Amino acid sequence: MNKYLSLLFVVVCFYHTAATATAQAPANVSGGSLLVDTKCSKCHTLKRVFVTQKSGEEWQTTVQKMRDKNPAWIKPEDVEQIIKEIKTFWPDRIQALTAEKKEFEDTRFLFVDRCAFCHSLNRILIKNKTGKEWAETVENMRLQAPDYLSKEDAVRIAHYLSERADLLKEDMGGKLFVSKCLICHPGDQILLETHSKAGWTKIIGKMKELAKDAQVVRLSHEECQMIIDLLAKTQGPKADDKSP
Ligand code: HEC
Ligand code: HEC
Ligand code: HEC
Repeated sequence: MNKYLSLLFVVVCFYHTAATATAQAPANVSGGSLLVDTKCSKCHTLKRVFVTQKSGEEWQTTVQKMRDKNPAWIKPEDVEQIIKEIKTFWPDRIQALTAEKKEFEDTRFLFVDRCAFCHSLNRILIKNKTGKEWAETVENMRLQAPDYLSKEDAVRIAHYLSERADLLKEDMGGKLFVSKCLICHPGDQILLETHSKAGWTKIIGKMKELAKDAQVVRLSHEECQMIIDLLAKTQGPKADDKSP
């Protein structure tokens, strides 16, 4: 009996780990680990990568642009391999993305989920638009990601935006991370570290003081908060890693 119980436990744990892993990095058909998954999930989520459909030439431009943000992290010889992987796995990933897409009762969450991965929410929220203009903008956005943004989503978001809201921004966090953290860490050191949110909070508090003393860059409390939220997401603890 005990044997069966422990077997069940193992199965449940395995299922749990597999489900968690799938949520973070959708199934990789080849079974191996992909370069795109390691290299492209550090400053934003992989969803940010796979949600857009681009031509080979456009991917070339984007991957180069990403490499320029931290040349030590993405090597010149990685570029072709990453583009090849994106092209190969794009159909599976977009399908997985659509399948795991959540429906939200709260439009605030729907908005963050559907609008925050191509550009900053700041970029959206600073705009003053009428309800009609929001409807037009959101429809334009929908056409850029029709697999992900349904007509029904668009209507709800446009309505929400016409009433405005204050929310956290993933792209904003990413930009801050590149401009404020990577200036002192040109290598891939901090792109490899994983910590819990509390761990990141502690480290970034220290960095804030360091930056102030060195007078190279100023980190405001709000910026630190955005970076912490982002890193807790992109470089949070693994399911099997309890390090602080
Ligand atoms: C060092 C941080 C960093 C890494 C590593 C990184 N990105 Fe980005 N990425 C950003 C930031 C910041 C933005 C948002 C602002 C911008 O476009 O510059 C972004 C935006 C994007 C966008 C939307 C803009 C566009 O051009 O379509 C895509 C797609 C993207 N990244 C793909 C990738 C891919 C693919 C990789 C892996 C090769 C990658 N990123 C690795 C920081 C990074
Ligand atoms: C597939 C990527 C993608 C998604 C998803 C996306 N956008 Fe955009 N958005 C873009 C790009 C690319 C631009 C820049 C092109 C431009 O300036 O017209 C942009 C620009 C904007 C702008 C500035 C230009 C303007 O018309 O005022 C606003 C506002 C905006 N998006 C709102 C939204 C909202 C709201 C959502 C969610 C419904 C959203 N975006 C989702 C890609 C996206
Ligand atoms: C003024 C330069 C500077 C800036 C800006 C800076 N760092 Fe650091 N960072 C350092 C130095 C120097 C160390 C090593 C000293 C230490 O560990 O006390 C370090 C160490 C680290 C470590 C490893 C040490 C640990 O405690 O685990 C991490 C992770 C880190 N930084 C992340 C960041 C992040 C994230 C940002 C952006 C919010 C950032 N750093 C901004 C200079 C900087």
